[in-house]
Amino acid sequence: MANKKNVLLCVTGGIAVFKAASLTSQLSQRGYNVKVMMTESAMKFVTPLTFQTLSRNPVYNDTFDEKDPSGVAHIDLADWADIVLIAPATANMIGKIANGLADDMISTTLLATTAPVMVAPAMNVHMFEHPSVKANMERLAIYGYRFIEPGEGLLACGYVGKGRLAEPEEIIRAVNQYFIEKSKQPLTGQHILITAGPTREKVDPVRFFTNRSSGKMGYALAEVAQSLGARVTLISGPTALPDPFGVEVVRITSAKEMFHVVMKQYESSDVVIKSAAVADYQPKEVFTQKLKKKDTTLSIEMERTQDILQELGKQKQHQVLVGFAAETNDVEKYAKEKLERKNLDIVVANNVSEQGSGFDGDTNKVVIYGKDGHRIESELVSKKEIAKLVFAEITRYTKGKTEK
Ligand code: PMT
Repeated sequence: MANKKNVLLCVTGGIAVFKAASLTSQLSQRGYNVKVMMTESAMKFVTPLTFQTLSRNPVYNDTFDEKDPSGVAHIDLADWADIVLIAPATANMIGKIANGLADDMISTTLLATTAPVMVAPAMNVHMFEHPSVKANMERLAIYGYRFIEPGEGLLACGYVGKGRLAEPEEIIRAVNQYFIEKSKQPLTGQHILITAGPTREKVDPVRFFTNRSSGKMGYALAEVAQSLGARVTLISGPTALPDPFGVEVVRITSAKEMFHVVMKQYESSDVVIKSAAVADYQPKEVFTQKLKKKDTTLSIEMERTQDILQELGKQKQHQVLVGFAAETNDVEKYAKEKLERKNLDIVVANNVSEQGSGFDGDTNKVVIYGKDGHRIESELVSKKEIAKLVFAEITRYTKGKTEK
């Protein structure tokens, strides 16, 4: 069933490394492309040659041993993987990745990948039960890592208890199950581009114009799209929010930067959702030195930024284009006018003067208008619920288009 999915198997050092050899062999036999990465300590148990022979691929160990000058191996592998498996996963590696360390090729690659990660721990029972190991695993679970529980029984160290690496068959079952579930997700195979947060338009080295957008709406959209199986690129203005798990995040500052990044990704996108609050104006002149205060009033001449969404509307081919409209009055009129003028498929209108709706908070209340005349109104609910509603609308709209 594997359909040539790419599995990056990260092997860390423990006696269970011998089982990882069998796992490599069985994954390859089932049609997965397997590439293996090993830590120094894993190589003390089994040689890389074993894994190279079983996977029919080179084995990676050293971040600085760049064999191909046209690429950067750990980034290329991070991008190549459809799934990353850490088996066996030692307490040390679990601790490193839970704390964002990157001092070897595996931990560095794990920070760089947006692929799902499955962790199969193997260690002594007391190590497995140690509060710091438990806390690290809980933290990884929050980041979206999946765990394949170790088995119980006689451990190599002589203890009886939990800590034995899950059998290769069980690990493969979990991998197969992941791909089966993924294939059933409604947005599988789609590339969704989402913009979020404010932009900052520089006045001088210490000042800028911005707005109250926190990015929460756009980040909620990115999380929901990722959970529905899409490949998500989030282009974010400055926010205090962490990168959503499994999402490619590109951080920008100004409207101009956002314009360039969005345009670059447009062709490969199936759906674009512009929830960012992009500045409409930028200072005509950016001062290289800090403006000194004077006793007189200060005027700063502003010029229009480029309307990114409008440009996307002009260049639209196969993409479904979703805009937001942040309004304080005549919401329906202005939202519908944007739907038309910017050549959108869907517009999500929020009345940002209503309590609990729009900027900064955790909730929103929207009315969604489709180009096909469909209209749906939400209650005041969490931004995550709004995001789900937006994707339900996109699915309904695209289904209607393909049925025509
Ligand atoms: O980030 P949060 O704190 O969670 O707040 C969420 C939000 C209020 C920012 C969000 O729900 C929202 O309404 N986003 C759009 C804000 C906005 O800029 O609306 P607008 O009506 O000014 O712009 C209409 C559309 O054109 C938007 O999709 C906007 O991204 C786009 N635009 C605007 C100007 C510009 N130069 N380029 C654009 O692409």
